[in-house]
Amino acid sequence: MNLKNTNVSKNKDLVEWDKRLSVGIAIMDAQHLELLKMTNALFLACLEGEAAAREYFKASIQKSVEYIRLHFRHEEQLLQQMGYPGLGSHKIQHEEFIMEVLQKARNFESGNKFVPNNFARFLRDWVLTHIAIHDKQYGQFYARKITGVYNNVTAPVGWPA
Ligand SMILES: [Fe+2]
Ligand SMILES: [Fe+2]
Repeated sequence: MNLKNTNVSKNKDLVEWDKRLSVGIAIMDAQHLELLKMTNALFLACLEGEAAAREYFKASIQKSVEYIRLHFRHEEQLLQQMGYPGLGSHKIQHEEFIMEVLQKARNFESGNKFVPNNFARFLRDWVLTHIAIHDKQYGQFYARKITGVYNNVTAPVGWPA
């Protein structure tokens, strides 16, 4: 799904990239955009109805979790390299989020307590808040301390396109 081809204004649940979300490190921004696309895709599936949304969730959840994990790992690696003092608590936030996503996926598999739209909202709200507050904090740290150093960081070998 391409955000640019999505009429975001038609659905208030969809999220559009906003430069205020930028952490000032291109590769992180690119990965964050992917996360937003992920939540938008889920909302769009929800518009097709409950059955379609469940089908989409089933087909995409594993890949989504994998991508989120790769992003977290890459982000934590950068934070370590830049000597970010908040790395420990940032890592805990990532871990708690993954646990919660996995718990919800288990609820889905066991056939109870899972509403696709609620899951999409949970995903969107967490991702947006995390980027806008916590990821931005390392962005500010980076801007103050090491401006420019990570601008040419590329994705690790084997990173999904
Ligand atoms: Fe983060
Ligand atoms: Fe992030």
